[in-house]
Amino acid sequence: MLTTYFGHSCFAVTVNGKQLLFDPFISPNPLAKHIDLKKIKADYILISHGHEDHIADVNLLADSTGALVISNFEICEWLSKKGIKRCHPMNTGGKWLFEFGKVKCVRAEHSSSMPDGTYGGNPMGFIIESTEGNFYYAGDTALNYDMKLIGDFRKLDFSFLPIGDNFTMGIDNAIIASDFIRCNKVIGMHYDTFESIKINREEAFSKFQRAGKDLTLFNIGEAINVTVKQLSKT
Ligand code: NI
Ligand code: MN
Repeated sequence: MLTTYFGHSCFAVTVNGKQLLFDPFISPNPLAKHIDLKKIKADYILISHGHEDHIADVNLLADSTGALVISNFEICEWLSKKGIKRCHPMNTGGKWLFEFGKVKCVRAEHSSSMPDGTYGGNPMGFIIESTEGNFYYAGDTALNYDMKLIGDFRKLDFSFLPIGDNFTMGIDNAIIASDFIRCNKVIGMHYDTFESIKINREEAFSKFQRAGKDLTLFNIGEAINVTVKQLSKT
């Protein structure tokens, strides 16, 4: 699955020929200045929660790409008032079959309000299951015991976990989360964008390695064909 990083928690993943874009926060991110928004394609835009650093570019990109936005009910309501016409509202615990595969919304232990203060519903993570593989996009979340449920009932090929600490779990808790979800292939997100979430990369890599896990940190703009084999060190 071709995966491109646009900074912070924004990734595009191609699943069965459809491009899924997660949590677009690109134009306000000084680290992503070299990314040309006009070149980004998306068939679906998935929004984990209402915070600005996850939805900043959703209006612009939904417009330019014509993508269907998938998010919680409250965020879809808010976006529709902002003129976004194509929205598929969901909520925690629900699943829906789209043309690329299945999306299941899972709990994220965080908060969710819109940039104007409107209630933003439940923060969520997404599990994507498809004929090409399964992955978990955690959104912003603390480590929580419900993550064990994710690992109990399906096999994940890789997962996107926040590692920047302060607003979400940090490196040590992400390693425990990867045990809970039973997935050793981790792509880090939600780090370095702000002063309070700067990480020490060497420390992150060595901690994951010591735990017998693979951590991948993309450069912003980098695209990697993520398969279990290529993410594995052996
Ligand atoms: Ni947040
Ligand atoms: Mn955030």
